[in-house]
Amino acid sequence: MANTHVVILAAGKGTRMKSVAPKVLHRVAGLPMIEYALRAIAPLNVTSTTIVVGYDGKLVRTAASECADVRFVNQEPQLGTAHALMQAESVFTGAKGTLVLLAGDIPLLSTATLRTLVATHRNAGAAATVLTATVPRPFGYGRIMRARGRIARIIEECDATPDQRNIKEINSGVYALELAPLFDALRQVAAENVQGEYYLTDLVSIYRRQKLLVETVPVEQAEEIHGINSRTELAEVGAILRQGKNEELMAAGVTIEDPATTYVDTDVTVGPDTVLHPGITLEGRTVIGAACEIHSGVRIVDSTIEDGVTINNHCVITKAHVATGARVGPFAHLRPDADIRHEAKIGNFVEVKKAVVGRRSKANHLAYLGDATIGEDVNIGAGTIICNYDGVAKHQTVIEDGAFIGSDTQLIAPVTVGKGAYIASGSSITDDVPPGSLAVARVRQSIKKGWAERKRRP
Ligand code: UD1
Ligand code: CA
Repeated sequence: MANTHVVILAAGKGTRMKSVAPKVLHRVAGLPMIEYALRAIAPLNVTSTTIVVGYDGKLVRTAASECADVRFVNQEPQLGTAHALMQAESVFTGAKGTLVLLAGDIPLLSTATLRTLVATHRNAGAAATVLTATVPRPFGYGRIMRARGRIARIIEECDATPDQRNIKEINSGVYALELAPLFDALRQVAAENVQGEYYLTDLVSIYRRQKLLVETVPVEQAEEIHGINSRTELAEVGAILRQGKNEELMAAGVTIEDPATTYVDTDVTVGPDTVLHPGITLEGRTVIGAACEIHSGVRIVDSTIEDGVTINNHCVITKAHVATGARVGPFAHLRPDADIRHEAKIGNFVEVKKAVVGRRSKANHLAYLGDATIGEDVNIGAGTIICNYDGVAKHQTVIEDGAFIGSDTQLIAPVTVGKGAYIASGSSITDDVPPGSLAVARVRQSIKKGWAERKRRP
């Protein structure tokens, strides 16, 4: 869109959130609120995007510049939405066209709605166009006051009379504004209201006095402009995003047994014919392949699960990779850089960190595998512990293809177990085990005949 600029207001602290973090960085369905605004405008290919930051501006700058090409202006102190937009005046010297203004706290706003807003605004030749919605519960929003059908002014909730509060048509806080008259008009905004703030919404009455055209566009789906001002609204918007995500996945062939208890973040992908059982969380940049089965109580964060994988109940998987046909759990913990290869099996109470578990290898019960490279067809017995840490540094363990690690073995790193070698149960392995050999590293059993009888005798 040529000659179209975007300004996102994100300087406020978000007092009603009762948080030390700036409001627009609170996460909803896995992404900071402001990222949704940036994603909604991205397909518009606008001429420029400016974010007004203030409270904890450094944090907001860092988060926003990670996901889009934007410039920033500072608003200090935060004296209201009109004052916020005024701070951007210098970046628009010599610019012409339309400015799309939105707040950083309405994550459900769609690209299509923004396109309709700008198109209507331009077709009408308006100085300002306000995106509005009619809702059953207008609480907290500015109300649209009309005279002879046309928008006359916007009145904020706290400045409204009880009668005005009954108006169900609300201001979304999203506008298309012509640049030419804008900044001169903003200078006329006064802070004469209950909050003592410079309200951007006063622009409507100022333009009407100047006989400039102000238009409105009703949003089709009122929920799109659901703003987040409190933790309750954060949860409400999160629920809407989640439901949308689940519906999208089901339409693409994923079985979700109970959408109400299935929490899938916005950026997660899931392949067709995968079954998601109740009560699971898929977070961050997780990728799940086709025909997987993920059982209840599983949490997967920033991980890749290939096709045909079964994750049994109550596993926690973070920044890990699980290849095709592998089985994990129940009660397994895959930590960062756990790399479970094709058809490998990680059973109950097994923890894996920074370790490759090769094709078809098995660690079926009760083990810790850390800082290790485990080859193919290896059997890791129950209770095997890789002692990777000496109190100062971490050391590597290598277990080559086809090795058999007996139950209750301790591998004291650094150590290498050669191809096809056997380790006797209960061994403490401190030295390398050559390929094809047997290592026994435990105290020999001794028998004291009749000992129990003697002990019991008074
Ligand atoms: C605003 C509108 C209201 C509308 C609602 C829609 C005004 C006066 N009111 O109210 O009509 O119904 O949005 O969600 O505009 N901000 C700054 N600097 C400031 C103040 C706010 O950058 O000095 C930013 C905030 O960070 C936020 C946005 O502007 O992203 C909106 O501010 P907020 O305080 O949430 O306004 P509302 O009370 O929701
Ligand atoms: Ca708001």
